[in-house]
Amino acid sequence: MRFLIVGDIVGKTGVERLKQELETRKNIDFCIVNGENSASGRGIRTKEYDQILGFGVDIITMGNHMYYRKEMASEYAKLKRLAIPANLTNLVGNKNVIVEKNGIKVGVINLLGSFAMGDMITKNLENPFKVVLEQIEELNKNNVDYIFVDFHAEATAEKIAMGQFLKDKVNCVFGTHTHVQTSDEKIFDTGMAYITDVGMTGPKDSVLGLKTEVAIKRFLTGDYAHYECSDNDAMFNAIEIEYDDTTKKAINIKRINE
Ligand SMILES: [Fe+2]
Ligand SMILES: [Fe+2]
Repeated sequence: MRFLIVGDIVGKTGVERLKQELETRKNIDFCIVNGENSASGRGIRTKEYDQILGFGVDIITMGNHMYYRKEMASEYAKLKRLAIPANLTNLVGNKNVIVEKNGIKVGVINLLGSFAMGDMITKNLENPFKVVLEQIEELNKNNVDYIFVDFHAEATAEKIAMGQFLKDKVNCVFGTHTHVQTSDEKIFDTGMAYITDVGMTGPKDSVLGLKTEVAIKRFLTGDYAHYECSDNDAMFNAIEIEYDDTTKKAINIKRINE
């Protein structure tokens, strides 16, 4: 079975690039996308949720940018294919998502890291290492065939530790949030696929999706400058993983940075 995992979709051009890529990549059996920046760089709305699923994506994961969409707080629980961070204590939504496709059950967990995510988030966060075990237990009770964990975190050490922690418990741990793809994709001897960060599908000429001039102004002056999502052509960052259908072990992992 072939899985495509796409890193943080940023803004309109990121959504558009995702659409184009999914139209041409016909050999994919299951697709997981991080959509936390799909609504003009900040969070997701029902509009982007519907659009992204309409392209053929199976499950969408989230991250810290959910906080910028206050109007969506009462909506997340209704979006059945949206996995919100399972270790957040003050938002209601699906702490794991299971989708059955062609007789195969895939479970996805989204978690936030505990380092440098901003005070507002950190004070409402449970330990991701403890929470993930509870979520895995719940998925296993539902007899899933595959478990994927999107660890949305800043610190490389925290993400690598999560990979090691789960190497014999799940089928894949992938990192998101930094918007910069890492070149450390690997398959553990247990058959679990891993990468520290998948990267970003969003505006090439930007600072992680933010308009370059706004980002430079913020750093140069130290003043607050209103967030403006860049809207130039998007790059595509993803990983493709192939699994042995019998053992459910990864046999190949390929990084895509185009
Ligand atoms: Fe992001
Ligand atoms: Fe993020």
